[in-house]
Amino acid sequence: MSDVVSVLFAREDIRRRIEELGRTITGDYDGRAPVLISVLRGGSVFLADLIREIALPLSIDYMSISRYDGATESMGRVRIVKDLEDDIGDRDVIVVEDIVDTGLTLSYLLSVLDSRGPASVAVCALLDKTARRIAPLDVRYRGFECPDVFVVGYGLDLHERYRNVPDLLAVQDIRAVDVDPSPLEAFLPRAPRDPSDDAGVT
Ligand code: IMP
Ligand code: MG
Repeated sequence: MSDVVSVLFAREDIRRRIEELGRTITGDYDGRAPVLISVLRGGSVFLADLIREIALPLSIDYMSISRYDGATESMGRVRIVKDLEDDIGDRDVIVVEDIVDTGLTLSYLLSVLDSRGPASVAVCALLDKTARRIAPLDVRYRGFECPDVFVVGYGLDLHERYRNVPDLLAVQDIRAVDVDPSPLEAFLPRAPRDPSDDAGVT
């Protein structure tokens, strides 16, 4: 096993945890029709699996933001690259995030959403790196507490790649995989079977 990359949460653990989160959200929002907002791009894989575990007449919407990579990280100020399609006034909003790290991005986003007059806003994050939190934030629904390592897979990227890795991986040495990505590539989904392999089999 590589000491550069290791499985932090396996796909089966993720599936089970999302089932539990879905059940909890279903109970908490009984009789209501929340809108689940995914922050592109990392949160999209989690959202896709989560909504299929929630037994409510929910809707979904997407938002895309880009961070200003300024010297002071501009205190989480973000630019909205793609805004929501629908009005969230009087709606119960659940923001679905892949990972909350410093919390700066999300707390800025929450202030933007709050200004639009929703009935309620809650945060659902698959991973919570509480050790790195700068902006205090109430993560109402948390998949897993995440150690302070760089995490890749299940929607999360390393230089825009490996979002399609089905497990959540911890990358201990980013520089090492920049030089030699093979330890990460070993976790990509296996190539589909070649149908011609079945030729002659009845
Ligand atoms: P923050 O909470 O404002 O620091 O930013 C959170 C965002 O940074 C997340 O939505 C991710 O896009 C990205 N991010 C933070 N930690 C990781 C990680 O370990 N792997 C991949 N992306 C990360
Ligand atoms: Mg993100």
